[in-house]
Amino acid sequence: MKKILVTGGAGFIGSHVVRLFVNKYPEYHIINLDKLTYAGNLENLLDVEEKENYSFVKGDIVDESFINELFAAHDFEGVIHLAAESHVDRSITNPTEFIKTNIVGTINLLNAAKSSWGEEMKNKIFYHISTDEVYGSLGKEGYFVEDTPYDPRSPYSSSKASSDHLVRAYFHTYGMPVKISNCSNNYGSHQFPEKLIPLMIHNIKENKPLPIYGEGLNIRDWLWVNDHARAIDIIFHEGKVGETYNIGGNNEWTNIALVKHLCKVMDTKLGRPEGESEQLITFVIDRAGHDMRYAIDASKIKTDLGWEPSITFEKGLEDTVDWYLENEKWLNNVTSGQYQNYYKKQYNN
Ligand code: NAD
Ligand code: TYD
Repeated sequence: MKKILVTGGAGFIGSHVVRLFVNKYPEYHIINLDKLTYAGNLENLLDVEEKENYSFVKGDIVDESFINELFAAHDFEGVIHLAAESHVDRSITNPTEFIKTNIVGTINLLNAAKSSWGEEMKNKIFYHISTDEVYGSLGKEGYFVEDTPYDPRSPYSSSKASSDHLVRAYFHTYGMPVKISNCSNNYGSHQFPEKLIPLMIHNIKENKPLPIYGEGLNIRDWLWVNDHARAIDIIFHEGKVGETYNIGGNNEWTNIALVKHLCKVMDTKLGRPEGESEQLITFVIDRAGHDMRYAIDASKIKTDLGWEPSITFEKGLEDTVDWYLENEKWLNNVTSGQYQNYYKKQYNN
């Protein structure tokens, strides 16, 4: 069996990627390496954990000797690197963790891959998963394309930009066969409820305030996580070595319009009178350095690899709401413990 290392596979996007690969490719052995930070949750993978072509390894990508030993013990055919600190608000309060995991962790993986692959390197793949946030903030016009100059503005996006540069440097300097994709905001099942959509679903359900930063006019381009996982599958198998692919939903929403739409969906699902959940909207102090607009031009991946989003946002969002309402136990488990303390500090409620 070909061994594929997926880092961060217990997180939101990683768990969807692991599930897709384990089920679709019985000829691969998927090894999920995850530190299990507050964002890593093995409950995300209950349906695949008994499969023969799946294994979990708990470990920290910042731990250089551990990573070197892991690569020495396995002959990985490919790496799909998703492990990261991923929340902008946390990067504002604790940037150093982002530097360690996102930058030092990535260089540790690159170095371990380089020395364990040696002469065989040209037959391998190092696929780095990144974000559109590296391109900075758009005004009303324009889209991010693959060669938009990097202009990261938060500690999170700066650390991701740095890791992208390192991955490209290993391609140019050492001939490492790398691929990179930069994706827009994801939503879907199993997302930790600190990010906008699951946070709002949770708070609407619990009749808690819905904190909108600033005036709620910032724009994000939302993509269903399963469509991102499909794109990762296609790029891993068919993408060109050394290339970057932008992945997006062609689906821009202001935060306030999105939350109002979500309130309507939730009113129907919860049997509330229309307009009731909207009363919970509360405008709060804006995020520091809040990027105004992200929007992806995803024409390269469509033209070159035939990928495009498979469902509308309305359908994806409704399915997502259903998932959170049907999986109360999952939600209760992640909203206890450390997350509660963070939540108190962040929102003071
Ligand atoms: P997430 O926070 O849900 O999951 C991150 C995972 O990485 C967790 O399981 C965590 O335990 C693990 N991890 C963190 N630090 C680690 C370390 N030092 N060693 C090993 N494992 C560690 O994040 P996500 O939303 O699933 O994002 C996954 C990747 O996709 C990230 O690289 C992120 O930058 C990128 N991305 C995310 C989005 C989005 O909208 N969520 C959009 C584009 C790109
Ligand atoms: P988020 O889900 O944190 O993703 P990102 O910052 O990576 O785009 O936030 C999405 C948008 O929602 C962003 O413009 C910030 C805003 N937001 C709120 O208004 N309130 C909140 O409580 C959160 C978490 C985000």
